[in-house]
Amino acid sequence: MVMADLFSELEPEPQPPEALGDGATLLRGFAAAEARDLVAALGSITAAAPFRHMVTPGGHTMSVAMTNCGDAGWVSDRGGYRYATRDPESGRAWPEMPTIFHDLAARAAAAGGFGGFSANSCLINRYEPKARMSLHQDKDEGDFSAPIVSISLGLPATFLFGGMKRSDRPQRFRLESGDVVVWGGATRMAYHGVAPLAAGESPLTGGVRINLTFRRAQLVADSRPSQT
Ligand code: SIN
Ligand code: FE2
Repeated sequence: MVMADLFSELEPEPQPPEALGDGATLLRGFAAAEARDLVAALGSITAAAPFRHMVTPGGHTMSVAMTNCGDAGWVSDRGGYRYATRDPESGRAWPEMPTIFHDLAARAAAAGGFGGFSANSCLINRYEPKARMSLHQDKDEGDFSAPIVSISLGLPATFLFGGMKRSDRPQRFRLESGDVVVWGGATRMAYHGVAPLAAGESPLTGGVRINLTFRRAQLVADSRPSQT
């Protein structure tokens, strides 16, 4: 069997949308056909803006390695969480968001009930085995009218989708490569996270999971955390 056949056999078919809540939808396999092109596009992005482990305002180093593309990138450091138009490591603008990223996110949002989504930010998360993301809300965007579109690539993960309070017990979903989660409207501020990643080997990404989180962030002048 040639490799192309092997890959197409592994490629999941898109499935009917599954409702996770009001405004929240799991689109299994939605990005499967484009998964290889998405991963291929990451090479030039991470060459210009390498993955790094950011530090939280509380001084904890995140287990997930991150970078960004698009007009605004989500960053964290001792000064806080925010969107920045430039990569703080290099001082340069984040790499441009590839058209296939932007357009796939728009199509997924529409499939989740949010027409007209135009992401200006893509956070790229890399999970190695044991990396996790604790329950949190995405609340640095300044405007919550746009949904969040989250694409999974490579190793599977357990996604935690909770309620409006951190203490609400989350639902757990296994996310495979090519799966997309969209949430907005009534669940835009839902707590969510990712359980510690199990080790494995993906034909697409090797020993890691990659997640692309698309959002629409308000572009304000880069705020410089005050030093006093
Ligand atoms: C995130 O909330 O930023 C990441 C979610 C995921 O990795 O699926
Ligand atoms: Fe998030």
